[in-house]
Amino acid sequence: MPKCLVCKAQYEPFISFGKMPIANAFLTREQFDKEYFFELKAGFCSNCSMVQLVEQPSREMMFHENYAFFSSTSKFMALHFKEFSEAVIRSHLKSKNPFVIEIGSNDGIMLENFLKSGIRHLGIEPSGNVANIAVSKGISTITEFFDESLAKKIVKKYGQADAILAANVTCHIPYIHSVAAGVKALLKTGGVFIFEDPYLGDIIEKTSYDQIYDEHVFYFSVASVSYLFEQYGMEVVDVEPQDVHGGSMRYTIANKGAKEISMAVFKQREKEKKLGLHLAGTFDAFRKNVENSRNQLIQLLRNIKKQKKRVVGYAATSKSATVTNFCGITPDLVEFISDTTPIKQGKFSPGAHIQVLPYKEFTDNYPEYALLFAWNHREEIMAKEQNFIKSDGRWIVYVPSVHLFPLPKVGEV
Ligand code: SAH
Ligand code: TMP
Ligand code: ZN
Repeated sequence: MPKCLVCKAQYEPFISFGKMPIANAFLTREQFDKEYFFELKAGFCSNCSMVQLVEQPSREMMFHENYAFFSSTSKFMALHFKEFSEAVIRSHLKSKNPFVIEIGSNDGIMLENFLKSGIRHLGIEPSGNVANIAVSKGISTITEFFDESLAKKIVKKYGQADAILAANVTCHIPYIHSVAAGVKALLKTGGVFIFEDPYLGDIIEKTSYDQIYDEHVFYFSVASVSYLFEQYGMEVVDVEPQDVHGGSMRYTIANKGAKEISMAVFKQREKEKKLGLHLAGTFDAFRKNVENSRNQLIQLLRNIKKQKKRVVGYAATSKSATVTNFCGITPDLVEFISDTTPIKQGKFSPGAHIQVLPYKEFTDNYPEYALLFAWNHREEIMAKEQNFIKSDGRWIVYVPSVHLFPLPKVGEV
């Protein structure tokens, strides 16, 4: 039995998605026969409530010079991080000459706001290509993985921080104890660590199983995050649900007793109990929901194929690797995936090997159906794809349930 990465208790995995590739490893045809696969399995530790992957590829295999995820692709996310930065400046940067650090700063989507406000900042981003974009914008960036030893080096060179920020990265790091110890060392006594990640409660409620892929080693709840930081003399002082990435939670962590604990923390923990996030049975029910979702989606795609209508995937997201490989969605069901990221275009999706083509291929010749892999950017996409709907196009959506949008005409599929 695997051991929990947080508390070392043994636990049983509750789901296996079978063999999976690295979600952001888009490849050329020549690379098909040497593609890397691992078994994607997740488990729940009933001792500390952490949901986690049993196995994860090495960090160097996922984060490197050719990392395919560029944060600034989404305008909606740029706005989200602008608001995030403004909230941090308002509430936590009251000292003279404050210092902000961001872990997993990618192309600088968050830190550019601090740069513009003339605030001392430092990004930590191991993927060289995206880090270089941030550097070219004038953002101070270190191209390394964050851990306790790097934190101590930063303290020596730059001093401690008023705020450490992290979005969609804390849940990527299996050596989470080193992260927590690093944060503790790097923060001023009255400082805050504010991070956000996809929220376990949303994953369970929406059956959004595609949040489960190689990079996401942890699926946090307020309960599991509290357990972890308590071991470092820290506590969760605030939580704020976020609409982004299909439902995220922003956690504010501070040294014990340094800040008042917001009522939101107690309320969210109550909600988690009602949702059963502390019970193994919840995850068995989730597995059944996942299997039903897969069966419905594959049935729908087969019916469409029988009618000889076209389906194109919309956005080659990391999450789509789990959906395509778990459901067995191959190029005979989905013609290609349209994506705006240049380094993905012309390549093939990991595992399922569906070709990724420029966005123009989608708009030049609308298919009857578009499979919305970027369901988490639904609002942004629906707003700009009015013409697809006007030309009688339908979205295939699978979160929170498999459905067509707009609704099909009677007898359509
Ligand atoms: N914060 C951005 C990027 C999220 S993607 C956003 O929300 O859009 C995760 C990023 O974390 C990647 O750019 C990856 O290279 C980086 N990363 C992965 N492991 C890390 C580590 N140990 N320390 C710092 N960054 C890390
Ligand atoms: P994400 O869900 O991991 O943020 O993935 C974003 C991917 O979706 C990225 O490859 C860019 C792509 N994308 C589009 O192609 N069109 C869009 O309108 C949006 C919002 C994203
Ligand atoms: Zn545990």
